[in-house]
Order: sequence, then structure tokens, then C-alpha cells
Amino acid sequence: MFAERYADRVEFLSPSSIRKMMAIARDLIAHGKTVYELNIGQPDIRCIPEFSEAIDRKANTGQINYSPIVGETYLRETYARYLNNFFDHQKRPHLVIDTENVLISVGASHALTATFLGICNPGDEVLVVEPYFSPYKGFLAVAGGTLRAIPTRAEDDFALPPAEEIEKLITPRTRAILLNSPNNPSGKIYSPEEVERIARICIEHSLFIISDEVYREMTLSDQEAFSVLQVDFANDEMNEKLKNAIIMIDSASKTFSLCGVRIGFVVARQPILEKLALVVAHTTACVSDIMQYGVAGAYDAILSQPSYLQEMRQVYRERLEATIAAIDEYLPNVIAPKPSGAFYVMLKFPEFEDITEFSHFMLEKFNIGNETVAVTPAASFYLTPGFGRNEIRIALVVSPEKMRRSIYIIAEALKAFRQFKANQVRPML
Ligand SMILES: Cc1ncc(COP(=O)(O)O)c(C=O)c1O
Repeated sequence: MFAERYADRVEFLSPSSIRKMMAIARDLIAHGKTVYELNIGQPDIRCIPEFSEAIDRKANTGQINYSPIVGETYLRETYARYLNNFFDHQKRPHLVIDTENVLISVGASHALTATFLGICNPGDEVLVVEPYFSPYKGFLAVAGGTLRAIPTRAEDDFALPPAEEIEKLITPRTRAILLNSPNNPSGKIYSPEEVERIARICIEHSLFIISDEVYREMTLSDQEAFSVLQVDFANDEMNEKLKNAIIMIDSASKTFSLCGVRIGFVVARQPILEKLALVVAHTTACVSDIMQYGVAGAYDAILSQPSYLQEMRQVYRERLEATIAAIDEYLPNVIAPKPSGAFYVMLKFPEFEDITEFSHFMLEKFNIGNETVAVTPAASFYLTPGFGRNEIRIALVVSPEKMRRSIYIIAEALKAFRQFKANQVRPML
């Protein structure tokens, strides 16, 4: 008999609630149900044509090769140019990014996993601003580390706690603070002062600052994202320390609706970059060269045609407006702070203690004209027990009309669920 034995680290890994919902939704779709999949941040915007053209050109060379472990110079150069250009347009001081500061990874997911493997020993801790992108927990678990929450709350507009509160959470095992702005799932864009607060704590306590900026381009209001690369303490010694602490994470997934292409970036100084490149090399050998050419084509294109991203932002803003209007109309008792960035809305249902059962009921047992909605119960975005249990996250990934229809379906499913629960508790005659 074959005795199954697995590594201890596998015990800490389980499919995320986002993926669980996705599997159920896909099964229902395969059986003919129409499901608005608002449970996953999978943008539906058509990708920029220059991506496909660059892929074709590379494919036509007939040479698809291994890539250098740090990534293709062409993409690293183009991305550095894009980033400097982005910050120059904001007219704020910023660190000038050189090709040497850029490492290519298999999406931001792998950039984060490689970072955790590169900086954490088993038992080490990373502080994360909560609510947070729930897969971080698994990425860190692979390295044997543990996430600890810096709590923020919808009621306070997800404002960061004062520095003294954050410092109390630091232990001898803390290796880094992870900040994600614009934030998934809250939509919060942290102010320059808040980003500086985290940066200052990191350098005072010799921690890395991991800044996940994959939604930089996705702003839903006039507020622009502020990058850790724009922090300027007006003090040479502190600025120098900060340069050595920064690990900035980015991705082509959201910017270009290229989630399936799996290209991400780490921006850091040596020697961090070299260490992380070794982790990338030893976990993947290298990143797909043809996809890197395609993504370089996309970044090259937006340098000369920023209209692609302006139009993309406009699409999400229209969806957001339609969604907020539909929430006001159909779900007046729900608390839904308007996000400033990324493309998610958090909905808090004060009538529930735990919204998981309702989310499954709506997906699996409810429909209007064979249509229903998949959402993500939000408890998995929190580490603090009990938080987020009556919240869901929806992603703005379908047209304004479909967003409106989805909110209507959620409202009708709510009525049906109340009825279903009332019938469950009614005593048998
Ligand atoms: C905040 C955040 N970071 C990282 C990722 C992972 O992105 P990628 O597709 O590049 O792995 C996502 C994906 O949804 C995300 O929302």
C-alpha cells in the first residue's frame, strides 16, 4: 500500500474562498446557468492590440527560448521607462528606476511568493494592512511565515492606525510590512502621509516595506495613487535607508487585462533583487520569453497612447456609478463605501451575522430567469476573528447594465433567503 505523506507546509494551504466560489460558478455555467461572476477580479476589457502583435512577431521568429533569470532586458527597460514616465506625469519627486532595478516574475503572485521566500524564515511574520488580498496568506505560508493584521475599518474609511499602534504589533520575528494601495478589497488609496508613516516605521525597525501597487493605474476618482517610490523624507540618510528597504510589486494582469499572461514585476535595489532573482530561477527556471515580449509591446504602446488606460478607467468609473446607484435603489440598508481605486466594492449587510450561507444560497439555489450572481464573502479578507463576516466583495467586471442587474438579483435573492430561513425555523405541524 502507498502511504501518503505530505510536507507540513501543505497543511497550511487550502483553496481561497475566491477560488471555491469560482469552481462552483464554473460548474453551474457548464450546466447552462448564467452567472455574473463578480467574485473574481478577472477584467473583461479587450487587451491592447499591440500585445497580440508583439506576440505574433516573436512567434514568427520561430525561436521561443529560455529567458535570463532576471527577465528580458527589453521588458525590464520598457517597464522602467513606463514607471519613470508615470511618476513624471504626476509631477512629484520619485526614485529614478533603472533597468537594473527590475525583476520579472510569473505575475505579482509569484513576485510576492518569491519575496516571502527570499526574506522570511519559517516562523517569521509579516504585518499586513487589513482587509487584505487573501491569497497573501498562502503565499507567505509557502515560506513558513505568518501574516499579522494592522486593522483598518470601513467605519473609519479604512484609515491607517497611528504609528504607535502599528509599532506595538512589531515583534522580533517581524520581517516586513505589506501595504497594498489602491487596496483590494477596500478600494482605499492611501495618502502620501500614510505611505510615509509605514515607510518611516519600516526604516526605524529595519523592516522591508513591500508595496503591492498592481492597481496603480486603476483609479476611480480624482485621487491618484501614491507610490512608496515617491516617498521623500528630505533627509539623505533616511532616504538611503528607505531605498534599501523597498520591495515594490507590480503586474500586467490588471493594467492590461492580461491576467492569463502571468507577468509581474519586482522593483528593488541590489542585493535584494539578486536574491529574489535566485528564488525565481530556482522555482521556475525562468519566465516565459514570448509573454515578456507581448507585455513589453503593451507598455511600449501606452507610452505613446495613454488613451488606452484613460478609456479603461472610464469603463470602470461608469460601472461603479451604475453599481452605487443600484445599491441605493435596491439595497438601501446596505453599507457600501465608495472605493477610490482598484475595481471592487465592499457591501456590509447589517442584518447578517455571517453572510456565507446567503452567498451560497444565491449562487446555487436561486435564479431569476436562470440568472444569478457569484460574490466573495469577505471574512477571508480579514485576519481578525469575526471581522468581515457580514460583508461581501463584488468586482466591477461586467457592463453597467449587468452590474445593475446583478444588484437587483442580490436584492431579490435576499428576499428569497429570508423566506427560506423563515420556512426552516417554522415548526413542523
Ligand atoms: C492586490 C493584488 N495583488 C496581487 C494580485 C495578483 O496578481 P497577478 O495576476 O499578477 O498574480 C492580485 C490579483 O487579483 C491582487 O488583487
